[in-house]
This record gives sequence, structure tokens and C-alpha cells, in this order.
Amino acid sequence: MTENFLTKPADTPAKLHPLIGERWSPRIFDPGFKLDDDHVSSLLEAFRWSASSSNEQPWHAVLLRSGTKLFDEISRTGLGGFNASWAPASSAYAIVLADQLFEGKQRDMAGTYFDAGLASSQLVTQAEAMKLKAHYMGGINRDEILRTIKAQDREVICVIAIGKQGSLAGHSDELVARESAPRLRKDPADVYTIDGVLS
Ligand SMILES: Cc1cc2nc3c(=O)[nH]c(=O)nc-3n(C[C@H](O)[C@H](O)[C@H](O)COP(=O)(O)O)c2cc1C
Repeated sequence: MTENFLTKPADTPAKLHPLIGERWSPRIFDPGFKLDDDHVSSLLEAFRWSASSSNEQPWHAVLLRSGTKLFDEISRTGLGGFNASWAPASSAYAIVLADQLFEGKQRDMAGTYFDAGLASSQLVTQAEAMKLKAHYMGGINRDEILRTIKAQDREVICVIAIGKQGSLAGHSDELVARESAPRLRKDPADVYTIDGVLS
């Protein structure tokens, strides 16, 4: 049988590094693929070495590998809507948490969310560099996840499904249609301004 793996490079005339231009968010993962210890170490160290405001590092990541009790529990109770149908075939969930406290006091959460987003992006870029794929999920049951991983004084920012991209073969029409949809972006003029002011 011919394998059918999608690529969805960014549709842009600009020269982008492949780690950026070829990243996309698949929903079809190879359910038999397992992350090894080197994968796990590199993903989490990429997260740890991100920049943060005043180097406060207001984050924590919990990485759960497929085949573990906690991965199964998050698959059952922690994922919302359509995410619950495809993400359990991935090889791991990285649960990204933001600290609510700094030296015992409430943090400025706007800056904290920004920092946690940067660290998440580094983890995803590291996944790409290792020929893995990653898919951020905000459609999640945050209270269930906090309860499952016994986190306190932290907020769940997102869960990132990580694994090896799977073949389209044998999947439902709905999933294949979503997987094959083009990657769209706003027009450049709506997103950035060069040497000028906003109109
Ligand atoms: C914070 C965040 C939350 C997201 N939540 C979901 C989600 O719950 N389910 C999903 O299928 N995709 C989710 N996505 C993926 C986006 O839909 C996707 O990144 C966007 O459509 C652009 O597609 P691309 O990543 O393939 O370029 C999320 C992305 C981000 C950054």
C-alpha cells in the first residue's frame, strides 16, 4: 500500500527556515510510535532554555508518554470535543503550566502567559527538528487536567500532542478533510507594517 503523508509548507515567497515553514499541526499520528528518552530530554530542555521576562521562568511542563496511566487518563477526561478523537493516537502530551505566584504573591499573568507561550514554541520547534510533529490544543478540560496531575497554584495554558505523523490511509472522511485543508493566514498587510505607520 502506498503511504500517504501530507506536507503543508507555508505558502509564502519569503525564504523561511524549514523548521518554521514546514511546521504545521497534524491530527493524524502514528499510534505505534514511541518517544525515546532522548526525544523527551530534548523537548523538555528546549522548553527549559526559553527566554523569559527577568529570567523568572514562570512555567512547568508535564510530559506524559502514551502507554502510561496518566496519558490514558488525560485522553479520557482532559481533552475537549474533536481533540478527544485524534490526540490519543499521538505519542505524548506536553501539558504546559503557568505559575500563578512569584515569591508567594500573585503574578502579572499577561507576562506569564507570554513567557509560557515562548517556551511552548521552543518545544514545538525542537519537535520539528527531530522530525516529529506537534499540535497545540487549547480545547481541553483545564480543571480535570489540574486534578489529574495534582498541580496547585498553576494554570494550564495548553496541551501539546507530540508524535510521528501518520498516513492518511484508513482514516474517516472528516479527519482526512480536516487534515488536507489548506493552511491559511491573514494578508501580510493585516499582520505587519514595514517602515510606516498603521493605516
Ligand atoms: C494556543 C493554541 C491552541 C490551539 N488549540 C487547538 C485545539 O484545541 N484543537 C485543534 O485541533 N487545534 C488547535 N490549535 C491549532 C491551530 O488551529 C493551528 O495552529 C492553526 O489553525 C494554524 O494551523 P497550523 O498550525 O497548521 O499552521 C491551537 C493552536 C494554538 C497556538
